[in-house]
Amino acid sequence: MTEACQIAGWSDAFSVGNAAIDSDHKAFFEIANLLKGIIFEAAESKFVIESALAMLEEYVAGHFLREEKAMEKIGFQHFEDHRAKHFAFNRKINEVIRLYRGGSLSVAEKLHDLVLKWLASHIMNEDMKFRSLLTDDDVDQRPLAYLALDALENEGPGTEKLAVPTVIVPAKLKLDYSKITALICEPSSTIRSGIRFTLNEIGISNIEESNNFIAIDESCRNGGFQIIVMDAMVGGNDSAYFIRQIRSIQTNCDPFVLTVLLLSSRDEAAVRSAMSSGTDSVLLIPFSSGQLRDQIIGHAERRKPFIVTQDYIGPERQNENRPGCASAPQIIVPNPVEALGRGISIEQYEYRKNEAIQVIVNYRLKSLAGAIVFECNSLAAGMRDGVSTTESTFRSLTRLENIADELAEKIRKFSGAKSYSVETFRDRCRELKGRLGEIAYVDIEELSASGRKVSEIYASR
Ligand SMILES: [Fe+2]
Ligand SMILES: [Fe+2]
Repeated sequence: MTEACQIAGWSDAFSVGNAAIDSDHKAFFEIANLLKGIIFEAAESKFVIESALAMLEEYVAGHFLREEKAMEKIGFQHFEDHRAKHFAFNRKINEVIRLYRGGSLSVAEKLHDLVLKWLASHIMNEDMKFRSLLTDDDVDQRPLAYLALDALENEGPGTEKLAVPTVIVPAKLKLDYSKITALICEPSSTIRSGIRFTLNEIGISNIEESNNFIAIDESCRNGGFQIIVMDAMVGGNDSAYFIRQIRSIQTNCDPFVLTVLLLSSRDEAAVRSAMSSGTDSVLLIPFSSGQLRDQIIGHAERRKPFIVTQDYIGPERQNENRPGCASAPQIIVPNPVEALGRGISIEQYEYRKNEAIQVIVNYRLKSLAGAIVFECNSLAAGMRDGVSTTESTFRSLTRLENIADELAEKIRKFSGAKSYSVETFRDRCRELKGRLGEIAYVDIEELSASGRKVSEIYASR
């Protein structure tokens, strides 16, 4: 057994007497374990390893800069020597990462041992020399990602660039994230650790995890969180479905929860499906800690208005050409992360949330009513022109049944009353689906007439 394998993780013995630096070191141990996970989880893809490497690069740059700034500030006598040791380790890490990215995939296996061994020895032999010399005022308290950005800017020409995000970030967090609860839905334990690490960095420690399809279903139905970070594919199933359910108010979850969908596939259809779920954003795996952090903070501080169309409820994205978007009005929706982060009372938030839900439901009813007429017309036209097939008729009737189902459910939920006309229409669709071979044009005409009647009631609301 190697020396590194015998080090379980951070313990009080590693404390250098400063909370910020101790917290960095704890996270450093976590990253080392994350790298260990990569080796043992044979099923992990190259993307996962890339994510962990980006996180390590960012972490090393940020932590070293935090220590170096503090040492310089207090005129620490071993400063130059200490900085040289950081530099040497940084080069070693960058070399391994460079080799990995150049195709020598097995070098990643060395990283866990390298990081853990170096870390334990460096803390005990070097960092301990400034123990008791640093006060909180001497140490930059900002999250590591900000320091990593500074480190990148401080690099001279010709030095190797680190893979940190290039976006400009605000000087400090504007919101208090300590009361936020986040839900992570990610089957890979390595990526999960990375997400947890990033959330902790922002100040979020209330974290729930649901890592299989059934558990996600239960979590989304119950709600209780303000942020969701979810892999778009869980156990081979499309989990963007859950975001759609949440946005269309079919669960007890807050429909305005902030969501980030993680996507491994670059396939256009997969990206489109993820974007059309109504998620706030999609993040491609691999991602760095800074990218995830910037997305979460970006959504928390600048929430986009929502739009409601026939097949979409979610943030408006101006650069997307979705049918119906151009005419859809923008709805200002509340932001649960911002509300909790600014200390707005639960009652006040709930009031705003319910108001926005009512507006969305009204638009949704109108758009479902419009969809019924559209679908009935195309079904009747196909039948009249003799171009419909059993399959196309079945598809249209199923679509109409689903639309009527949602319409009936929304009416029941938000007005407390049953809508007999909608339910009768839905039952008629079901009945026709049961005798596909015998459907006559007159049946479709009759269905269309009752569809138009249903539509008139809700389209004019
Ligand atoms: Fe350190
Ligand atoms: Fe150090």
